[in-house]
This record gives sequence, structure tokens and C-alpha cells, in this order.
Amino acid sequence: MATGRSLSRSRAAIARAPGKLILTGEHAVVYGEPAVVMAIARYARATVGFREDAFVKIESRDLGFSCVFDEEGEVVAGKRWKKQATPLYIVANRIRRIAGSKRGLDVRVESEIPIGVGLGSSAAVAVAVAAASSTLLGLDLRRDEISRIAYESEVFVHGKPSGIDNTVSTHGGIIFFERGQITRRLEVPRRIPIVVGNTGAERSTGMLVRSVRKLVERHPEVAHSIISTIGELSRQVSAFMERGDLRKIGELMNINHELLAALGVSTEALDQLVHRARRVGALGAKLTGAGGGGCVIALAEGKVAENVIEAWRSAGVQAFQAQVDE
Ligand code: MEV
Repeated sequence: MATGRSLSRSRAAIARAPGKLILTGEHAVVYGEPAVVMAIARYARATVGFREDAFVKIESRDLGFSCVFDEEGEVVAGKRWKKQATPLYIVANRIRRIAGSKRGLDVRVESEIPIGVGLGSSAAVAVAVAAASSTLLGLDLRRDEISRIAYESEVFVHGKPSGIDNTVSTHGGIIFFERGQITRRLEVPRRIPIVVGNTGAERSTGMLVRSVRKLVERHPEVAHSIISTIGELSRQVSAFMERGDLRKIGELMNINHELLAALGVSTEALDQLVHRARRVGALGAKLTGAGGGGCVIALAEGKVAENVIEAWRSAGVQAFQAQVDE
């Protein structure tokens, strides 16, 4: 997350926040297990300025919506965009309350993070709006406060998320995340070369989290042992990250994918993409995020990374190399 203070003439504050990739530990993180997650250099941006009235307007040209909320939080224009705009209204209004201000806000957002595919777009937009609004209103909030406010919008979007997305989008880098614990940033001695494949198949994180919950309820001992194995795997991945041991990280990513499949969140298409990446030499490959569609990642560098990109593109999937956002 980064904030700009180009406030002078136009009185607007600007902030941007990155998307994310979960390297290991999705779903298990909902049950208190750790996960390793990387902020990626794909950003959401927010520009927030004052209005003459006391309303809050949330608009996005690239996402194609515009919605105005009055002082009571009622939508007075753009009702059909209420669902898209409400999470960001929640954030802007919370910041306004903390600042003790009743001034109206114009909130504009843009995002280069694909939506609904596990790359943390909703959290990044919320973090950017929180950071820009607080700068405009003269608040000097700590990163964990920005993250906590963005989490409120994540609850609206996803139900009861772990908070991993808003945390990594606020802090950046590669982090070891455990729900309710202090976030630890990993000191990684080398670049972690990740290729991302986006199937473009949007899915609902909340629904997939609920499907895992049902499995846990039906088979508590078995499901909990899978979940705690994923947690152990993430602990080991964080240690191998700090040693820069790509081979071991890759092996654990492979195991993680199979455990996620055992929890029922992979699909035939995701399995095939993972196998294609391994076949052309990736050190590891797995789904990333909630599963059920969305994205896959592979640990691969140099020529092998190019081969993975080609293998995925020829399967009709958008593929790119991820850069870490610091
Ligand atoms: C979503 O990015 C990751 C999940 O673990 C859900 C969550 O952590 O809230 C599937």
C-alpha cells in the first residue's frame, strides 16, 4: 500500500494497493492455520476528494459503476450498483467517522487486478480507498488499522474471511499470515519466480469456504487432519523461503495442491493446468486462492517459466510472470 499526498489544488488524495497470490495455506488459514502469501505488482488505485454536499459517491470507470449514498447510507443514485459500491462505502464512511467528519466524499477506483479469480482484487480496492480517504481527512492511521477497516468490507463481500487478503495488500512483500497473530514479513534472499495462469472462471470465495466447512462437518477428524497438514506445510515453506530453497518449496506446493483437491476445491481444469506445468518442468504447481476456477500458480524460472506460460496459453489461459510488490 502506498499513499500520495498530491492534495494541494484539487484536494484529492491518491493511494494504491497490491493484489496477492497465496503460495500455500488457503482454506486452512480460515481454521487458524498459517499461510504464506505474496503481494504482487498489480494494483488497485483510489482517488478520494471532497464534495460540496455530505454524500459519498463511489465510482469506477473501468469496473463500470457509479453509486451515491446519502448521509443515512441510503442509495440515492445508481441503485443497481449498490452491491459493488457498498463495500467501498463501508470503508470510506468508517474513515469519515473516525475523523469525526461529515464532509461528502467522491471516491474513484480503478484496478488492474482481475476480479473474482483469487488475486485479492476486492481487498486491494478496499485498502486503497481506506488509505486515500484517511490521508484526505488528515488521519495518520497505522497499517494494521487500515487493514482492519478494509477487513470490514471483506466481511461484506466474502462472509467471514480470514483477513489474509487485506493484510498482505496493506503490508506488501511475502508474509507468513496467521489469523489473529502478528503478521510476519519473510526475509527472502532471492526472487521467488512465480508464473500465474488465470482461467478467467469467476467464482465465489464465500461459497467455496462454505463447501469446505460442510466437508469438515461431515468428516471432522479426516478434514481437520488435512487442514493441519496444510498448516505444517506452510510453516515449512516459510522456513524454505528464508533459505531460498526453491526445490523444497515446489515439492510442498505440489503436495498442497493435492490436499486442496482432497478438500474438494480443485476442478478438472485446474488439475490439468497444474499437471501441464509440472510436465514442462515447473518445480511446483497448485491452484491459488479459493479454487473452483480462478488461478493456478507455478514455481518456475528461466526457460521453464516460458514453457509453462506457453503450455498454459495453448490451453486458452492467460499467463504472466508475477513480480513481488515490496
Ligand atoms: C481467499 O483468498 C483465501 C481463502 O483461504 C479464504 C480466506 O482466507 O478467507 C480461501
